[in-house]
Amino acid sequence: MSNTTISQVIVVDDEKYICNIIKEALSSFNYDVHVFSEVGEGIEYIKNNQVDLVLTDLVMGEFSGVDVIDTTQENHDDAVVILMTAHPTVEAAIEVLKKGAYDFLVKPFKLDLLRETIKRGLAHQQIIRDNVALKEQVAFLKAATAAATEENKEEFMRLVAKSCKNELDATAVSLISLDSKSKEIFAHVNDCDDEKYIDEVSDFSIIDKVIQAKSHEPIITKETIEVDRQFHIKTFITQPICSRRELVGIINLVTINRFDNITSGQLDVLMLLSNSAASTFMNFKLYHDLEYSYLQAFSALANAIEARDAYTAGHTTRVCKLAELIALEFGWSEQKLHYLKIGCTLHDIGKIGVPDAILNKQDKLTTEEQLSMNNHPDMGFKIIQGIELFKPAIPYIMSHHEKYDGTGYPNQLAGEKIPIEGRLLSVADTFDAIMSDRPYRKGRSLKVAVGELRKYKGTQFDPLIVDTFIWIMQQGKVDFVDLYGREEDLVQLVEVKLTEKVSV
Ligand SMILES: [Fe+2]
Repeated sequence: MSNTTISQVIVVDDEKYICNIIKEALSSFNYDVHVFSEVGEGIEYIKNNQVDLVLTDLVMGEFSGVDVIDTTQENHDDAVVILMTAHPTVEAAIEVLKKGAYDFLVKPFKLDLLRETIKRGLAHQQIIRDNVALKEQVAFLKAATAAATEENKEEFMRLVAKSCKNELDATAVSLISLDSKSKEIFAHVNDCDDEKYIDEVSDFSIIDKVIQAKSHEPIITKETIEVDRQFHIKTFITQPICSRRELVGIINLVTINRFDNITSGQLDVLMLLSNSAASTFMNFKLYHDLEYSYLQAFSALANAIEARDAYTAGHTTRVCKLAELIALEFGWSEQKLHYLKIGCTLHDIGKIGVPDAILNKQDKLTTEEQLSMNNHPDMGFKIIQGIELFKPAIPYIMSHHEKYDGTGYPNQLAGEKIPIEGRLLSVADTFDAIMSDRPYRKGRSLKVAVGELRKYKGTQFDPLIVDTFIWIMQQGKVDFVDLYGREEDLVQLVEVKLTEKVSV
């Protein structure tokens, strides 16, 4: 497809005067006309240059117009071919039309008829191109809509990179998101057909050039390279992604084409994709700022509960740290780790509905008091359920008091029916409760805490999670001095190590 609005018209006819007449006849039109009376030269030209329409004689010495049709079709998907001949036969006409020639002119023809046929051929070509462009736009809009509704930023970036690659027929694409103030790189995704271009599209030094250019226009550089013994045009495009005049990312891409055929329409699509990326990046930022504010507010609430419940001071923070260590061992994604933080912070939020007298009672709770206490997961669910941002906390809130053997609360779930979030939190939560100081007793030792985990492995706790947690401790990944301020636990850790080796 041509990158200009001027159609490239090629005339191949071994009669030179015909070539000249046609060139003259088309001179008042906005076409670039290239005439060839040497048929071989014409065929070479068609192989190596942008071509929109070809006019050729059918019989030309050693060459036939069919050679010209074949060469044109091999090298240009939507070029129009018009045949000219002085000796038409029905069979010849059928043959060339079958081969994909657009029309057939019988010599001698009136120049008006020639002009009209060319005009019609180019109009026909335009309809086909518009149709293709329309299909591409529909595909693009579908991809852009899917991308814009994507909740995961990295997945969104992958979809945008893929759309850029499809729309510009690129060999390699890189999408980089930046902090609008510091210009530090937040996230970076690649989509490459050819690995040798990964480093090129991942070149961060171009970011400084974009900042210095202070422009939202794409930076485009071109060079000629050889691929399979043919010259190709390699185009490198850097499209800035800007939101409210701030640079928030860039799209780098490499295209390799036989001809210089990046269209202005494709550059428009790239601009649209960068605008879509900019607004979605801002939405992600607003979403995360909002989520952060909410989490701060709810953390304050969780702290307020801890303040009421003297022995739980710092419990939430420690449980978050311990649960994260276990989840890391299970290879959880960034997204799941993020939800884990929300879930662990909010897991006891329902205690807000438990009276102080029950929460801080040192004697055994009455049945009624126990029921009130056991209601805190349901109460937490009711508090959280209307807040979309915190829905990922629900499995933590609802299932951290379920037991592996099905005797826990509130739903007596057993085994793997208990969400993994609850099984994991249950181990971290109980471990910390044993280790923490309470008003009526000092925190228990590491040896006791580990002994309890082992004792209730398979009844209260998921065995794999207990084993993993102990293995993490044995690897020295738990900072007991930071968490509990007790050096002696380090000594006991050696004993834990010696008493039983756990393999996970
Ligand atoms: Fe709880």
